[in-house]
Amino acid sequence: MEKIVIKGGKPLSGNIYASGAKNAVLPIIAASIVGTGTSIIKNVPHLDDVTTMNELLIQMGVRLTINDTTNVEICADHIHNPRAPYETVKTMRASILALGPLLTKYGKAEVSLPGGCAIGARPVDIHLKGLEAMGAKIKVENGYIIAKADRLQGCQFYMDKVTVTGTENLLIAATLAKGETILENCATEPEVVDLTRYLINMGAQIKGIGTSILKIQGVKTLHGCEHNVIPDRIEVGTFLVAAAATGGKITINRANPEDLESVLIKLREAGAEISTTKDSISLNMHGKRPKPVNINTAPHPAFPTDMQAQFCTLNAIADGYSIVTENLFENRFMHINELIRMGANITVAGKQAIIKGVKQLNSAQTTATDLRASASLVIAGLVAKGSTEIFDIHFIDRGYEVIEEKLNQLGANINRISY
Ligand code: UD1
Repeated sequence: MEKIVIKGGKPLSGNIYASGAKNAVLPIIAASIVGTGTSIIKNVPHLDDVTTMNELLIQMGVRLTINDTTNVEICADHIHNPRAPYETVKTMRASILALGPLLTKYGKAEVSLPGGCAIGARPVDIHLKGLEAMGAKIKVENGYIIAKADRLQGCQFYMDKVTVTGTENLLIAATLAKGETILENCATEPEVVDLTRYLINMGAQIKGIGTSILKIQGVKTLHGCEHNVIPDRIEVGTFLVAAAATGGKITINRANPEDLESVLIKLREAGAEISTTKDSISLNMHGKRPKPVNINTAPHPAFPTDMQAQFCTLNAIADGYSIVTENLFENRFMHINELIRMGANITVAGKQAIIKGVKQLNSAQTTATDLRASASLVIAGLVAKGSTEIFDIHFIDRGYEVIEEKLNQLGANINRISY
């Protein structure tokens, strides 16, 4: 087992590079199932979730080679087992992204039904309704979604809720469907846009890129292509919050400020000086204590739920009161109990956390409960006096590439220890 130990109290300072985006590369790897021939995906981050998605495809018969540190070559021409088993889906819900591609390319798919997860129930009803609207026959048996279709048919489908992986699954499925598909109320997250660009590079006919209405003219075949994955806006946002919380000054290169507007607005409101170029973001907190900022999570371009936990830590040491409202997931405040154990003054009432900033957090032994909760604890450890320990750090490795190396490069004192 491993834990992370942080000796806090040092302002972060220096430069780092952003890694490729987890939530872009997962649907892109899944989408390579629909291509004939080989795709080369570049800027792929080394993350546990990416390894899981790679292994899932390899089990199906996909030829997948990691041909240097960040490039993955994928050829899905010989899938013999279009199945995502429970063992994989239970560790990574994004495995549901195999459903649309398998069904549209091979006419059948068996994907374990993802259960609830720590942050909420997270149903996939919209994925299934959309595929049924395209003519798929779907039944759920023994915990598996079993889907069949001769060739999916284009249709008009309105998604009741804005869903990121739901939009991605239906978009990928529509690329090989017969005729035109119109998807309405689509997610417009930058990761959906990156997937759309990849599909267009493969020969897909898609209009409305980056908007909530996507029009897809189905084609008979798609080909492999080269694609460079976008930077991880949530990783970038996490490091910026860490720098702000410690009163530091950092620059993140290979980042895209356009994808992070709502987060940069909140960081400026918290008192950070921020400057950007086309592909870098610099933050200088000038050693000041942050001002409190209210947060309201909602689909892009509003404030992302994946940055909520990190801002709870920032607000926990801010000079005054703030309210953080989580609108997407019903159980995404599990970091708060851990922050309270470190001296934070926070009350949770339904979907709101009412935070009264304290001057200083204290170190403690803490446990990560999900990916972004673990990031909020790392930030808390960086600002707390003394030595903070974080257990269950496998959550961090799902979504943050070499986090200790990057933080140590910025002057932090953070170590991974086996016990
Ligand atoms: C994706 C991201 C995750 C992020 C989330 C919200 C990936 C791999 N994961 O998750 O990091 O936190 O978007 O930005 O990209 N819903 C339904 N029925 C459905 C689908 C979703 O009711 O069929 C609900 C969910 O329970 C949730 C809301 O819609 O309340 C949004 O969830 P969704 O966008 O689907 O999240 P994911 O795609 O799972």
